[in-house]
Amino acid sequence: MRLLVTGGAGYIGSIVAQHLVARGDDVTVLDSLYKGHRAAVPAGADFVEVDLLDAEATSEAVARGFDGVLHFAALSLVGESQQVPEKYWRGNVVGALNLLDAMRAAEVKRIVFSSTAATYGEPDVELITEDTPNMPVNTYGNSKLAIDRMLTDEARAHGLAAVSLRYFNVAGASGELGEDHEPETHLIPLVLQAAAGKRESVGIFGTDYPTPDGTAVRDYIHVDDLAVAHALAVDKAVEGRHDIYNLGSERGYSVREVIETARAVTGREIVAIEQERRAGDPPRLVASNARARVGLGWAPEKTLEDMIRDAWAWHAAHPDGY
Ligand code: UFG
Repeated sequence: MRLLVTGGAGYIGSIVAQHLVARGDDVTVLDSLYKGHRAAVPAGADFVEVDLLDAEATSEAVARGFDGVLHFAALSLVGESQQVPEKYWRGNVVGALNLLDAMRAAEVKRIVFSSTAATYGEPDVELITEDTPNMPVNTYGNSKLAIDRMLTDEARAHGLAAVSLRYFNVAGASGELGEDHEPETHLIPLVLQAAAGKRESVGIFGTDYPTPDGTAVRDYIHVDDLAVAHALAVDKAVEGRHDIYNLGSERGYSVREVIETARAVTGREIVAIEQERRAGDPPRLVASNARARVGLGWAPEKTLEDMIRDAWAWHAAHPDGY
């Protein structure tokens, strides 16, 4: 298929694009390079430097002709989204609207969207299903949920084939491609920076959560497993329907467990310092993936050890990122 990957110079988008190239799709990456890295665009993919807020340039890019779009381009810093909500409403929601306008004009009928567990907020359930009520607790989650709703309407009114994939905590690396955020806020890369001696320690944000060891629990998923899910979603999108799938493992790990696993995998000491909770962090977020198993024929295959080992190898090969 001819596929356009927006945000394909970012961490997840580039690795999904790489996977699509490898399976034989004709891939074009569209990215503003605001946060993305030109070096992350996988070999074998075309590249256009376009910001989705530029409606004209977006239309031109989409008019090249595609069978489908995978939409990753987005702002994704939860803290920043709380400080400057308008940046997220414009960047994420208006950007997505421009993309959908361009797709409608060019008769591109298929989209896979990078949604998030943040749409659920802080649900007090063992496993989060797609029927768990959406109650985002930050602007980032609000903006992603708004796009999900846009897709539901667009599918109903214009026959778009749409799939939203709600990621839980993505980690790991894939060959030459890995995670290089500035600023870095995610637990696993920060732990590995501490393991590598690039930072003195890593903070444990909160030790009084109602969890077995008092630290927050998350459902980690390998970026390669995520890439497989996207490829399946592109193939299985149905005209006039908007399907939503959680992508997680149904298994939660606490912050302490992640740090312990990183110590085992890297053989490094890793100094961890207990700190106050970070504002807005729910105690526990673990996905049910039952719907993805049935609807996409997908199941995660890689473990937390795999994620940390692959991220560690990438970090060793790219100590300063891209
Ligand atoms: N944490 C620490 N120390 C750190 C960094 C994180 O203890 O230095 C903890 C956090 O408090 C949290 C866990 O590690 O409990 C995971 O934190 P991340 O920042 O790695 O990931 P989040 O669960 O906060 O974020 C994920 C996605 C976001 C999404 C968010 C919504 O990565 O894109 O869920 O809840 F917005």
